[in-house]
Amino acid sequence: MRGIQISEYVKGPKELKVTDLPDPTPKPDQYLIEVHATATNFFDILQIQGKYQNQPPFPWVSGAEFSGTVLATPSSATNPKFPIGSRVFGASQGAYATLVCAAEPELLPVPQGWSFLDAAGLFVTAPTSYGALVLRAGIKAGDWVLVHAAAGGVGLAAVQVAKAFGATVVATAGSARKLEVAKQFGADHVLDYRDAGWPDKVKKLTPKGRGVDIVYDPVGLVDKSTKCVAWNGRILVVGFAAGQIEKVAMNKVLLKNISVVGIHWGAYARFEREAIPLVWGGIGKLIAEGKFKGTVFSDKEFVGLESIPDALLALGGRETWGKVVVKIPQPGDSKL
Ligand SMILES: NC(=O)c1ccc[n+]([C@@H]2O[C@H](COP(=O)([O-])OP(=O)(O)OC[C@H]3O[C@@H](n4cnc5c(N)ncnc54)[C@H](OP(=O)(O)O)[C@@H]3O)[C@@H](O)[C@H]2O)c1
Repeated sequence: MRGIQISEYVKGPKELKVTDLPDPTPKPDQYLIEVHATATNFFDILQIQGKYQNQPPFPWVSGAEFSGTVLATPSSATNPKFPIGSRVFGASQGAYATLVCAAEPELLPVPQGWSFLDAAGLFVTAPTSYGALVLRAGIKAGDWVLVHAAAGGVGLAAVQVAKAFGATVVATAGSARKLEVAKQFGADHVLDYRDAGWPDKVKKLTPKGRGVDIVYDPVGLVDKSTKCVAWNGRILVVGFAAGQIEKVAMNKVLLKNISVVGIHWGAYARFEREAIPLVWGGIGKLIAEGKFKGTVFSDKEFVGLESIPDALLALGGRETWGKVVVKIPQPGDSKL
């Protein structure tokens, strides 16, 4: 196969090289998958530098999210869920390659009518945002929801889920283009949070200035968001894209009866496995109803493993929106 192997840590994506590598050998519980698209994540940039929480022993192939077709089923499976030729998407170490291995819990079927490009970026963002808003914050029709970094990967998923549940969405982002994208994906109101006065503006948008019912925060804006959250509001702690783990003055949480609620989607596989099919069932329903669509960054195309460094640099440079997905051409593509 061809792939981006890491034999020593690099300073950044520019140093990544695509080389010929031996085909991977699936473990007894793993499928072998031909990769048709791979999606980038900020943690890929950290991992190639040795700065991520999960660092495999050298040498290892970088990348995590992908979509593709099943070439071989697990040797230990008598009744595999995905027969040879199935279109799947998922996440497993080694997705920046033409072949990847993944076990059944790391895979899902590509939704009906979806392209490999759209499906490649679905595995992490959609369930994080659905799980946060539905399981953790109990979203309901009529709620006002503030989505921070609304044009990012999890942000655009959150905008779509919130709209599908009948909420009014206020979206924040840091550029005019990103605000435009948030609006295209359904946000009712958009605000540039580079303007320090955004909490007051959010409050003024809500009925009688009462504030929003739910804040979806992948950035690290809990403290400022307490200013524009309603009595009994919920603030979802999703991530720290701004790079700092926030410290919050707890009196603000007390004064308005606020619930500060965490979400760690990846840990559901360990602590609450039974919730996973419920979340994907809910996402599947929204997709079938046309209420949830793929969020592939389309301002620039990335094609081939050789374009992964550029894709990672664009992602890390905060220039992109949605999911930055790289198409991986395969010899049989014209037949698909
Ligand atoms: N809790 C979970 O289970 C879970 C699951 C998935 C992801 N996450 C976390 O959620 C966060 C967002 O993930 P994502 O996939 O949506 O990432 P992403 O697509 O890269 O989007 C992140 C957004 O954060 C905003 N941002 C604000 N300050 C930033 C800064 N200093 N540097 C870079 N971006 C900044 C950017 O929007 P603007 O330019 O508009 O400000 C950017 O679009 C990450 O921290 C990730 O680790 C958590």
